[in-house]
Amino acid sequence: MILCGHRGVASLAPENTLAGLQAAHQLGLEWVEIDAQLSKDGQVVVFHDEKLRRCTDGTGWLRQYDWHELARLDAGSWFSPAFAGEHIPQLQDYLALAAKLGIQVNVELKLYPQDDAARLCRRVSEVIRQHAFDPGSLLFSSFEPDCLHHMQALAPDIARALLVERIPGDWQTRLQRLNGTALHCHHRHLTRTRAREIKAAGYRLNCYTVNHLDKATTLADWGVDMIFTDTPQHYLAAGWRPR
Ligand code: G3P
Ligand code: MG
Repeated sequence: MILCGHRGVASLAPENTLAGLQAAHQLGLEWVEIDAQLSKDGQVVVFHDEKLRRCTDGTGWLRQYDWHELARLDAGSWFSPAFAGEHIPQLQDYLALAAKLGIQVNVELKLYPQDDAARLCRRVSEVIRQHAFDPGSLLFSSFEPDCLHHMQALAPDIARALLVERIPGDWQTRLQRLNGTALHCHHRHLTRTRAREIKAAGYRLNCYTVNHLDKATTLADWGVDMIFTDTPQHYLAAGWRPR
């Protein structure tokens, strides 16, 4: 089972920063997951929350700031003084470093209620095209089906995963509609029977956010392909391999 660093490696470095990507590399991870949103002026930034306060020294709504304002924020001190000066990355810089380190990236398209799915997806696909990132090293996911349908049209060669908390009864129809390759669900809502069904239908099955060894062992036993985890170092210390 693959260990995918959640938001980089969220227990070792400030989430969604280049420092987190370096931490993943140091652990030997082959996959990380990040969250992508738009600044006011349409730059794609790597950031989870709708508001700046929890993970930066800024306040207010991310979507109300231009990139040059976001770039000035400290996105590391909240986590530890050792990371003071760490910044919110732009998607292009994150993916460039990931490519250099040989790490594959699950870009979660993060759409909050006031956001525009078409605009986010257009900008993300432009970034990927302009910088010629390898489609094979990327995976899109989103809680918002609109985002995945836009990506199907804009970047059809990049794999898409349906991201849900609970698995809906019509999961297979939804995956077929977007020609997706994987289902991402909260581990709490997965059962052995459902896992068997998804795997038997030929899809990849990935679970978030798994931070306990016992749970991960159960999921591996059920055939889960990949877990998103804040604490990959704990699995590695227990003798697991990154994949
Ligand atoms: O993509 C898996 C997981 O990251 C989804 O939840 O809130 O951590 O982005 P969240
Ligand atoms: Mg995420």
